[in-house]
Amino acid sequence: MRTTTVRVPAKINLCLGVGPRRDDGYHPLATVYQAVDLCDEIRATEVSDDAVTVRVQFAGDGRREEAPVPTGPDNLAVKAACALRDAFAVDAGVSLAIRKAIPVMGGMAGGSADAAAALVACDALWGTGATRSELEDIAATLGSDVPFLLHGGTALGGGRGEEVSPVLARGRFHWVFAIADRGLSTAEVYARYDELHADVPPPAPEVPQELLTALAAGDATALGAALSNDLQKASLDLRPELGRVLEVAQEGDALGALVSGSGPTVMLLAEDTVHSEELARLLLATGVCADAVHASGPEPGARLV
Ligand code: C5P
Repeated sequence: MRTTTVRVPAKINLCLGVGPRRDDGYHPLATVYQAVDLCDEIRATEVSDDAVTVRVQFAGDGRREEAPVPTGPDNLAVKAACALRDAFAVDAGVSLAIRKAIPVMGGMAGGSADAAAALVACDALWGTGATRSELEDIAATLGSDVPFLLHGGTALGGGRGEEVSPVLARGRFHWVFAIADRGLSTAEVYARYDELHADVPPPAPEVPQELLTALAAGDATALGAALSNDLQKASLDLRPELGRVLEVAQEGDALGALVSGSGPTVMLLAEDTVHSEELARLLLATGVCADAVHASGPEPGARLV
């Protein structure tokens, strides 16, 4: 049986500007994404019938309890395989096996990452001949973050997140992720954001200039000071205990700390790998999170291994 394997990174948002809710229910975003080397792996194996199936295995050491991941048609990787098959009239099935390291419902786009990985893995397995831009178009129908996870690196995100364009970024950054014991629904966080802005709608979102300057210079201290997330208040409202994680980040002299995307993962920027190990130890010792993992970025997007 032929097999293809794809590695795909998690994403973080170095800034996440969120505008007023659109008529389609989505919010206009002005974000800078970075892909980090906390990676899921997907193996796609050819099958003799036209069934698209998925198995999920967790890569962690069991420190955190993993939320269930759908293993039927609701799984985003299954949706991705079916969307690609429909678009190119492929007459085949596939068996997908996912090894998950990205936290489930953690604000790091784990589900979207698996969708991007499934697109790349099935495209190679089936030899669809899809162009990069055709894959990106399918990716955008699957979720707002999926096109970025094909792209990887550090990039600007516009539209509802699906419009990705390159940004000048130097150097490599060391992050520690404080992972919560249970996930948070992205839709719920956006709904709380709407409630918080019920009286005064938020302005059109913009990417802060200080952040772009820090990235262009590869200056981690300036980047730490420029991190921002318009969804943070809504996540903290839903999970007040995340405030303690942010305090511990300060106690450990993190260069910056921020809720990742819609949360509940909190990302801490470290000076180097030694500092990131110290921060991870501090987070675990204070018991403010279920797990603390180190990862660095930028990383390439979904790619065959
Ligand atoms: O695009 P995706 O399926 O990942 O989005 C999940 C949910 O997050 C959406 O159903 C929507 O409630 C919210 N969302 C949003 N605005 C965005 C992206 C996501 O309101 N730009």
